[in-house]
Amino acid sequence: MTNTTSPPPVRDHAEMPATVAVRVEDVQKIFDSKRGRHEALKAIDLDIFDGEFLTILGPSGCGKTTLLRILAGFEQPTRGDVLLDGAVITNVPPNNRPMAMVFQSYALFPHLTVHDNIAYGLKIAKVPKTEIAERVEVVLSIMDLVDLGDRLPTQLSGGQQQRVALARSVVVRPRVLLFDEPLSNLDARLRDQMRSELRRIQRQLGITSVYVTHDQTEAMAMSDRIVVMSEGNIEQVGTPEEIYREPDSLFVADFIGKANVLPAEIAHREGHAADVELLGITTTVAVPPGLADEGSEGATATLVLRPEDVAVAPFESPNDHHARVIDGAIEVAGWLRASEYVGAATHLTLELNDGTLIECVKHHTAQAGPSSLPLEGDGVLATLPVAALRAVVHRRAHG
Ligand SMILES: Nc1ncnc2c1ncn2[C@@H]1O[C@H](COP(=O)(O)OP(=O)(O)O)[C@@H](O)[C@H]1O
Ligand SMILES: [Mg+2]
Repeated sequence: MTNTTSPPPVRDHAEMPATVAVRVEDVQKIFDSKRGRHEALKAIDLDIFDGEFLTILGPSGCGKTTLLRILAGFEQPTRGDVLLDGAVITNVPPNNRPMAMVFQSYALFPHLTVHDNIAYGLKIAKVPKTEIAERVEVVLSIMDLVDLGDRLPTQLSGGQQQRVALARSVVVRPRVLLFDEPLSNLDARLRDQMRSELRRIQRQLGITSVYVTHDQTEAMAMSDRIVVMSEGNIEQVGTPEEIYREPDSLFVADFIGKANVLPAEIAHREGHAADVELLGITTTVAVPPGLADEGSEGATATLVLRPEDVAVAPFESPNDHHARVIDGAIEVAGWLRASEYVGAATHLTLELNDGTLIECVKHHTAQAGPSSLPLEGDGVLATLPVAALRAVVHRRAHG
């Protein structure tokens, strides 16, 4: 995939990208093989904005690579279309798409120097020699590779090889950069370093980027927006904070970070609010639009609550305490069953009077260390802010 048209625009990243660069319209992919028929993508609709860093996140086998390969043109959808800047490109072969794929295996030419590896695509595209020299210089400098131009790939560390692979992709000035788990071969420390470096370079160049990973931390740290996928469907699309704070489905709440899952019975429902019974009390929670069908009266709702939203205090007599709502929070008593100190925080497991287990995280500072916390076996009073309870669907409804 090569392209030698206009240079990428430098974006102001404070503003949200608005122009649609790539549109995926009702894309379905069925693989027919000896083992049978497999619907890898069901009905994918997705807009990718100009200049954004979009991550496709989901467990292994959910269809991430298939979707990326359809964007690149290596796979044809069974149904549906891919549009680039408004034009249908579904049947355009990969080498005629202004896109570049950055692979997990570095796939550098072993007999070419760093400089020549980077220049290769431009040579093939018959870019004039002086322009090649200029463009390679610029990319070497952005990628912090200036001193390594004469080395062979075998003389580079893993991180340096990954930077060369990226340099080789961006030097052709693609409209869209595609990444399929490019960091999963690297060890943990290098992966962390590369992910911030990759993000810095993407910001600097402003190239629309689609990044596939199964690693939620990587997705959270790098992305403007995250697309969470499961079993060939999109579960939710949002900024990292939206995905974390406002998960629509139990799948998303569970896949991104940790969540307490509390079953509740819906006593009364009015629009986007519902009175629910949980932990022996009745309270009102917000109901997201996706709950339209499951959220009727008498039905069981599922509420999720992040561990860091739970406050814990020592409490003398949990047996005598009745759950109540006070100052916008549910107050329940129980015992501290487990306490795990992990340095920056302590992970607590509480068992409430009715047997419900609640996970809780207390982050530490110099002023509030682990010694301020109750001990295993102690009575505790837990405070669950009602505003932090979120009703979720078990699965997104897919048409
Ligand atoms: N060429 C193929 N033939 C048959 N099945 C395939 C093919 N490519 C992918 N699949 C199947 O489609 C599903 C999605 O695969 P993939 O997109 O690679 O998932 P992911 O990248 O999310 O791990 C998997 O069940 C996989 O086995
Ligand atoms: Mg994959």
